[in-house]
Amino acid sequence: MPKSLISIHDFSKEEILHILDVAAEFEKDKSQNILNGKIVACIFFEPSTRTRLSFETAANRLGARVIGFSDTGNTSIAKGETLKDTVKMVSNYADIIVMRHPLEGSARYASEVANVPVINAGDGANQHPSQTLLDLYSVRQTQNRLNDLTINMVGDLKYGRTVHSLLQAMSHFAPHFVFTAPNELMMPDEYKTFLKDRKIPYLETTQLIEHLNDTDILYMTRVQQERFSDPIDYEKVKNIYRLDAGMLGNVRKNMKILHPLPRINEIAANVDNTPYAYYFKQAENGMYVRMAIIAYLLGYK
Ligand code: CP
Repeated sequence: MPKSLISIHDFSKEEILHILDVAAEFEKDKSQNILNGKIVACIFFEPSTRTRLSFETAANRLGARVIGFSDTGNTSIAKGETLKDTVKMVSNYADIIVMRHPLEGSARYASEVANVPVINAGDGANQHPSQTLLDLYSVRQTQNRLNDLTINMVGDLKYGRTVHSLLQAMSHFAPHFVFTAPNELMMPDEYKTFLKDRKIPYLETTQLIEHLNDTDILYMTRVQQERFSDPIDYEKVKNIYRLDAGMLGNVRKNMKILHPLPRINEIAANVDNTPYAYYFKQAENGMYVRMAIIAYLLGYK
């Protein structure tokens, strides 16, 4: 079975650092025709702006060509074709598959039926490993290191696949965590157990202001309406946090605000022009990191 990227655990610490280093080279020189003749399939069963477009841009910048879909209504899935058959077909057409799907575990399943590498571009509330790698890249770019940082994760820590993947990846780098979430959306026990097993310290709070001034990376997230089965539960927590420029007066000078985006109202627009906002540059970084991931999985080391 070819090597895929389904969970951040699929890459060792050395592989993670290799991807970050290669991405830094791609950032310096954005167009590299090293994948001429290759086909990258982007199959998206769920909406996306950044992930799909940055993967497609990454493939184009590497000289590959892109096929795929972002609306299953125009595919034979609308006629009832299974995920297995769809993935098997696409893997006959393309050299690598980038897939987003709402079901947890779907990406791992796809990697088991495909005969080409699969990159998980998000499977439900489970994992989003390419986002994690671009998050790590952005952390390192802003702090000049990955070790010994305080990462404050805010918002939907229960369903947020980006925070789950980032937590696991940062475990290589002796982090300290703060989990800021309403009780309904706290970090699930399995991730807290993961940290306890590795003796990685974490604090939990429901108040955004409580640890704002002792944070290196403030990782804001959206409360994801699409993950709630009961709309009343969503209504209770949807406006729980709103970061405003006025709250940033005493933060650490090196503090940077990351967000996987899209944002709804959890970061006020007046934060965008502060020296702490880094989320748009973070999204740009996705392109360089995804170039590095595609190249690596296709064997260009
Ligand atoms: N961060 C992220 O996954 O954004 P999209 O949903 O727009 O791809």
